[in-house]
Amino acid sequence: MRVALGSDHGGYELKKVILKHLEAQGLKVEDFGTYTSDSVDYPKYGFSVGNAIIKGEADLGIVICGTGQGMSMAANKIPGIRAAVCSETFSARMARAHNNANVLSLGARVIGAGLALDIVDIFLNTEFLGGRHAVRLNLISDIERGETV
Ligand code: RB5
Repeated sequence: MRVALGSDHGGYELKKVILKHLEAQGLKVEDFGTYTSDSVDYPKYGFSVGNAIIKGEADLGIVICGTGQGMSMAANKIPGIRAAVCSETFSARMARAHNNANVLSLGARVIGAGLALDIVDIFLNTEFLGGRHAVRLNLISDIERGETV
């Protein structure tokens, strides 16, 4: 599995922990920055991770900022991206199983590194169930293509 990773300054320290954790599992990880703790604007990094997935360069993405909120909003502006903010493991599992989320968004100022790594592992190892859930996601894709409801 190929994972795209990105953060702003608020998520920089947690991103380093996650990068090490994923590489220790032998996963191929591309780190889209930021690469220092200097203040930056999070949308750029959310867009980079989202674009990597849409271009087929990564299977799933993980974005991290202070709350996870801004990063998810940015990533979700890219058609085809389904970014989910998760602060506990149940939502991470359901975001994959029911919503086929392709980006996990974490808040480094909300949860600790231990819980974040559990959430990451569950997100990356849960399969989409398809079926009725796919029908519902197609309704979201319709809106992205400009089809009105
Ligand atoms: C940066 O201070 C903070 O606003 C950002 O990391 C994030 O939480 C935005 O959603």
